[in-house]
Amino acid sequence: MEPKTILDISNPNSIADCEIRDAMLAISLRNSNLSWDYANEYPLVLDREDTVTSWCAYKYGALVSHANLWPRTLKHLSSQKTIAIGLIGNVATHPDHRGQGHMSTLFDHLAKIAQSQNLQALVLWSDMFPFYQTLGFSSIGRETRFEIVKDDRPRSTGISIASLKTVTDLDLEVMLSSRPRLDWTLDRTLEEFRTLLSIPDTHLFIRRKGQKIVSWLLIGKGTDMRGVIHEWGSTSADELVNDVQSILHDLDIHELLLLSPGNLHQHWVSTFKSRATASTDHPMALGKPLGNHGGEAVLALARGFIWGLDSI
Ligand SMILES: CC(C)(COP(=O)(O)OP(=O)(O)OC[C@H]1O[C@@H](n2cnc3c(N)ncnc32)[C@H](O)[C@@H]1OP(=O)(O)O)[C@@H](O)C(=O)NCCC(=O)NCCS
Repeated sequence: MEPKTILDISNPNSIADCEIRDAMLAISLRNSNLSWDYANEYPLVLDREDTVTSWCAYKYGALVSHANLWPRTLKHLSSQKTIAIGLIGNVATHPDHRGQGHMSTLFDHLAKIAQSQNLQALVLWSDMFPFYQTLGFSSIGRETRFEIVKDDRPRSTGISIASLKTVTDLDLEVMLSSRPRLDWTLDRTLEEFRTLLSIPDTHLFIRRKGQKIVSWLLIGKGTDMRGVIHEWGSTSADELVNDVQSILHDLDIHELLLLSPGNLHQHWVSTFKSRATASTDHPMALGKPLGNHGGEAVLALARGFIWGLDSI
């Protein structure tokens, strides 16, 4: 077997390094011209001032590969027990350097960093299962996608697009606590939530009763999840679907996909099923256990959910 090339692996340490990284990510991971900087889609992990989660592999000084390793905390709903995991994203090797084992070398290195940070699993999102399988990942958790098609009974519930400027911290707290309550989910500060909501093409819809938010949903996130409702909260499944119908009619869209945790309470699932034209089950993500509590982390992810805004 050919010995692996020695790569220098480090965080980018100048603005120029970050610019080269972002250009490589854009050509590798987007196939059209973006109307914003690639890094704006990942404000918490491609920040040019804070590069600790961004890992670059250099060969003779030239950037060949990149991946983020973002430590996050899974929190249990009632016991408040926590498990540290690492999210992986923005995975790319420069087109001139692919097929030479560079990503596999970078992943070996990231696994060591993750272990030194006591992270109990690595999690990522990708449709390249065969590639990640060679790196030790397997399917983890479940999600259901419900197709909601515009019906022929126009009705407005009053849900409307909200500007982030009008959303208070109290609103953000209400939004986080009105999501379906799952055994485990990722902890997210209000500041992180606000930053994630500023990702281009992330559309926030809100319905209020008086001042209080009673229903909300998010459609899209940068180039990702167009036409997909990937995070939401409401008082009932029927009301949420009524809100989706209201948006379909207001915006004259034919269909939206409602993404939901695979282990949602049965009464929500049966309502969604009765009002959707189709539903399909999928793995939530790909994961790899690490460390002494890797099995526990995988089990927690299977019983919980990572919402769209948290994925990278
Ligand atoms: C996918 C990508 C990151 C791989 O990087 P790379 O440096 O060429 O990967 P490596 O050479 O380290 O390959 C690692 C292993 O995966 C295998 N592999 C590589 N690309 C693969 C693919 N598309 N499908 C299946 N296996 C693949 C290799 O054969 C190798 O296996 P081996 O160790 O048994 O020989 C690179 O092709 C790329 O940047 N693609 C475009 C961006 C992208 O799709 N990123 C992933 C988004 S989730």
